Amino acid sequence: MFKGQSIQLVRLHDSLVELRFDRQQQSINKLDTGTIMELQAATQALREDASIRGMLVTSAKASFIVGADIFEFTTLFAKGAEEIERFIAAQSAIFTAFEDLAVPIVTAINGLALGGGFEMALASDYRIMTTSAQVGFPEVSLGIFPGFGGCVRLPRLCGAKTALEWIVSGKPQKAEAALAANAVDGVVSNEQLRDAALAMLQSAVKSGEWRARREVRAGAIAPWDPSTITAIEAAAAKAAAHYPAALAAVAVVSSTAHLARDAALLLEARSFGRTAATATAAALIQLFINDQMMKKKTGVQARIARKVSRAAIVGAGIMGGGIAYTSAVRGIPVQMQDIAQAALDLGKTEARKLIDKQVASGQLTRESGDSIDASITPTLDYSEFESVGAVIEAVVENMNVKKTVLAEIETRIPADAVMASNTSSLSITDMATALQRPENFAGMHFFNPVPAMPLVEVIRGEKTSDITAATIAGYATAMGKTPVVVKDCPGFLVNRVFTPYVVAFLKLVHDGADFEQVDQVMEAFGWPMGPAYLLDVIGLDTGSHVFDIIMRGYPGRMSLDFKNAIHLLADQERFGQKNRVGFYRYEASAKGRPVKLTAPDAHALIAEIQPRGRVTFQPEVIIDRMMLPMIVEAAVCLIERVAETAAEIDTSLILGLGFPRYLGGPLKYADQMGLRVLVSKCERYELLNDAEPISAHLREMARMDLRFHR
Ligand SMILES: NC(=O)c1ccc[n+]([C@@H]2O[C@H](COP(=O)([O-])OP(=O)(O)OC[C@H]3O[C@@H](n4cnc5c(N)ncnc54)[C@H](O)[C@@H]3O)[C@@H](O)[C@H]2O)c1
Repeated sequence: MFKGQSIQLVRLHDSLVELRFDRQQQSINKLDTGTIMELQAATQALREDASIRGMLVTSAKASFIVGADIFEFTTLFAKGAEEIERFIAAQSAIFTAFEDLAVPIVTAINGLALGGGFEMALASDYRIMTTSAQVGFPEVSLGIFPGFGGCVRLPRLCGAKTALEWIVSGKPQKAEAALAANAVDGVVSNEQLRDAALAMLQSAVKSGEWRARREVRAGAIAPWDPSTITAIEAAAAKAAAHYPAALAAVAVVSSTAHLARDAALLLEARSFGRTAATATAAALIQLFINDQMMKKKTGVQARIARKVSRAAIVGAGIMGGGIAYTSAVRGIPVQMQDIAQAALDLGKTEARKLIDKQVASGQLTRESGDSIDASITPTLDYSEFESVGAVIEAVVENMNVKKTVLAEIETRIPADAVMASNTSSLSITDMATALQRPENFAGMHFFNPVPAMPLVEVIRGEKTSDITAATIAGYATAMGKTPVVVKDCPGFLVNRVFTPYVVAFLKLVHDGADFEQVDQVMEAFGWPMGPAYLLDVIGLDTGSHVFDIIMRGYPGRMSLDFKNAIHLLADQERFGQKNRVGFYRYEASAKGRPVKLTAPDAHALIAEIQPRGRVTFQPEVIIDRMMLPMIVEAAVCLIERVAETAAEIDTSLILGLGFPRYLGGPLKYADQMGLRVLVSKCERYELLNDAEPISAHLREMARMDLRFHR
């Protein structure tokens, strides 16, 4: 009947027809433009065949349809709201034409039916899914909302509250929830799916009850009670300044609640056009593309990597303990070595606490929790190091101590085992000079707290081999982390790009800014914490040590010629949260969490290093002065290939530092600002220094209208 690249129509018995999604030469089904065009052609063929009495929709893959083709979005969404609206309305009409075929339609859902895949299923009269299948709308995580009728059909099926909960959360829903919400009509095992769906179709053909269902779907939302969505609307409104899609979805549902389907669909398409054209959507889609690219790269590295099935962690402090736990939880047992029994005891106790939390929340059974605990073996000597594939050193931040420890470890491990240092600021190339096999050594920079932070920088020293870098990246992936391979330079990638932001903060304070105002402005701009608060959390003693090292590495762009607020506070033993006083004061909450309070004495102290007294800055000036130096440093890192691509730099800053996601990372932010604007702003704030190649480079990029991301 119809045979396309993604869709085939097959005649079954009893005048039934099966529409099968089966993308040729691909492992998954997705709704790209080609597939939707095929749906249109198939619908036309079906409409012309009066002998058909019922439709079964299936997938020949392990999943029904995983969603739209996100790689197509970038070009489409750059065309502007009106063009997107026209395009999406035309595509949405194809789903509607399919839905309006004069026969009952049953969709059989296996695996995932997400985004457009779920919308396809909603354009049928009945849905049946397997016990392990999931349905849902992840669109808000990309800065958009369902645009193929999801905001219209789901509330007419499940009620506005449930529909919006699903759309706003973006979470996939399991079979049980989908059945309870009336989003599907049955749940069966994978083996039963086809027969059960066919039986459902045959019964629909016989009863004719599907016609009544269609009438309900074609009408307004009934009953419509706006008060059911008040709380969802309030939560969406709170996030809307930077993430507008959820609130736009709420508005679509409420403004179309009293309309019949077709009028509602037109409004959905209009709002979709406006939402998809936002800078937030462009940034979040870019992050998705970055993520895919980085996964592909990790896959390529994995081809030469050695598998690490047993590891050792040396130094059981804050970082070492966290690394040992993270490795063990992911099924890679570790020897945890330290020179102090107390550190080993603390490391084990902390790991046990984390395991118990997971057991209490039902993520782990008690037995698996116990076996994870048992797979962290504390040791004061190097016992069993002869059987490990990787060692991570996390002892104190001192070059000589690290060199001695690493040289000792090297004599205890197999010749092909890799070693990594979790240093924050020391040179990997320099450290490797203490080793017999420097090619087997790299940096592996975790972020604190290790179990929660998703990024790991894999630092290549001059002599690090490809296999070593790939093996360490593979071990990081096995631990559930996102690895990024970076060059050995002061601060590596993330802390290097972060340092100009800290320097900018210190300059603003020196010029008279109120640090609390800077915090408020930057938090409103989208940072999880303002710079003063963040420095308190990092610790002003640790911070000043690390930042000083990084600043010394880049004297042109990062030097300061005045006494800065970090040194001032650290000299006064105001170390931040760790001793409850820094820029702020901290008191323990009832649950023992530190609560941030204003500290008037910090303001008085800082006034001493503000030669011009207190100066009020406009928020836009604070934002530019804080953000632009970071963008410039990220651009330098790209030119110097500290990481290979803009994608890796942007994603690393988001995962490692909490850079606001809605901006897509410093380089995407620059692209969206436009490089001409960037250069003129940098000139206004005297951030371009003609002695450095970055100035000419950025000016040339601006002149040629280039971008960092393609
Ligand atoms: N804390 C952070 O936020 C952070 C973040 C990234 C990287 N790092 C780096 O991680 C490393 C460890 O930092 P930390 O915060 O966990 O320090 P920590 O002081 O909490 O732990 C260091 C541990 O190393 C042990 N140790 C010292 N000498 C040793 C030796 N010769 N052999 C075995 N163990 C020895 C100590 O007993 C201690 O338990 C440092 O290089 C640090 O720069 C720290």
